[in-house]
Amino acid sequence: METIVSGMRPTGHLHLGNYFGALTNFIKMQQNYDCYFFVADYHMLTTHPNPADLQDNVRIILSEYLASGLDPEKATIYVQSMVPEVAELYMYLNMITYVGELERTSAFKEKVRQNPNNVNAGLLTYPTLMAADIILRKATKVPVGKDQQQHLEMTRDIAERFNKLYKTDYFPLPQAFNFDGDLVKIPSLDGNGKMSKSYGEKATVYLTDEGNVLKKKIMSAKTDEGPQSPNSPKSVEIENLFSLMKLVSKPEIIQQFEDSYADCSIRYGDMKKQLLADMDSFLQPIRERIKEIYSDEAYLNKVIAIGTEKARQSAKKTIKEVREIIGFRV
Ligand code: ADP
Ligand code: TRP
Repeated sequence: METIVSGMRPTGHLHLGNYFGALTNFIKMQQNYDCYFFVADYHMLTTHPNPADLQDNVRIILSEYLASGLDPEKATIYVQSMVPEVAELYMYLNMITYVGELERTSAFKEKVRQNPNNVNAGLLTYPTLMAADIILRKATKVPVGKDQQQHLEMTRDIAERFNKLYKTDYFPLPQAFNFDGDLVKIPSLDGNGKMSKSYGEKATVYLTDEGNVLKKKIMSAKTDEGPQSPNSPKSVEIENLFSLMKLVSKPEIIQQFEDSYADCSIRYGDMKKQLLADMDSFLQPIRERIKEIYSDEAYLNKVIAIGTEKARQSAKKTIKEVREIIGFRV
C-alpha cells in the first residue's frame, strides 16, 4: 500500500479552508492508503512559542482533527516531536542540502521580509525538516496546497541527491497528491483571496466559531451594490458568498439565490442570513465533538500514545537503514 504523509503546524483553531481544503481529503485518504498525519510542532519552534501555548495548540489541532473524522484506527496520527528520529534524519539531510537552494525558497524569502529580526537557521532549513518528515516514512504521496509545492520539489531533490550519493534507490521520490483531482480554494469573507489565518481573523471562519462571533463574521462579509441588469456576471465578493454557500447549503436553496441574482431581486442580507443558519447547523455537531474531545485528556493521551508507537516503529527502521547506508556502525 502506498504511503501518504501530511503535517500541519499547530497555530490555533482550524478554519473552513483547512477543513475543506485538507481535512476532508485526509478523511477519504485514510480509507485507501497507509496514512501518517502529524502535528508539526518542531516546525513551530522557528517562531519561539511559549511552552504552554505550544502544548495547548497541539491539543487543539488534535481535537479538531479527530472531531472532523480522522480515525486513529485507520491512520497514524502523531505529534512530530514525539518521534525524535525525524530530527536525526533532518541532520543527515542538512548535509546534502545547499544553503543557496534554501535561500531561494519563496516561503523563506517571504518570512525574511515579514520578520527581518528573526531569520534563524531553523527557518532557513525548514524545507529540510519537511523533507525529513516525508522521507522518514518513505512516502510516495503528499497532500499539499499550492504554497507547499516548492517545498515538496525540494524534498524530491534531496531524496534524489541522497540516492545518487549513496548509489541506492532507498528513498522514493514523493509526488503531490489530491484525492479528488482539483484542489479546492476556500475564499475569504472579505473578497480578498483565500481564507487564511494570516490574512485577517475577521474574514476567517473557524470550526469553533459560534453565536455572535460567527454571526458578525458572516453578516459583515463583503458584497457589492447588487446586480444592475438581469444575468450580469458576479463580482468576486458575490462569487465567494455562493462558493461558501455551496459548502453548507442545500442545492435548492442555492438555486433560489442563483435565480434571484439572475433576475436582480436578490437581497444580500437574506442570503447572508441563510448562509449563517446553514453554516451554524453544519458546524454545530463538529463544535460539540471538538469540545468533548478537547476536554477528554485521557482519550487524547491514548490517541497520542497509539500514534507515537506506530510512527516510531517505522521511523526506527528507516533510521537504522539510513545509518547503514551512510556508513555508520549500527
Ligand atoms: P493558513 O493559510 O491559514 O496559514 P495553513 O497554511 O496552515 O493555513 O494550511 C494548512 C492546510 O490547509 C494546507 O493543506 C492548505 O492547503 C489548506 N488550506 C488552508 N487554507 C485554505 C483555503 N482557503 N482553501 C483551501 N485549502 C486551504
Ligand atoms: N510545511 C507545511 C505547512 O506549513 C507543514 C508540514 C511540515 C508538512 N512537514 C510536512 C506538510 C510534511 C506535508 C508533509 O503547511
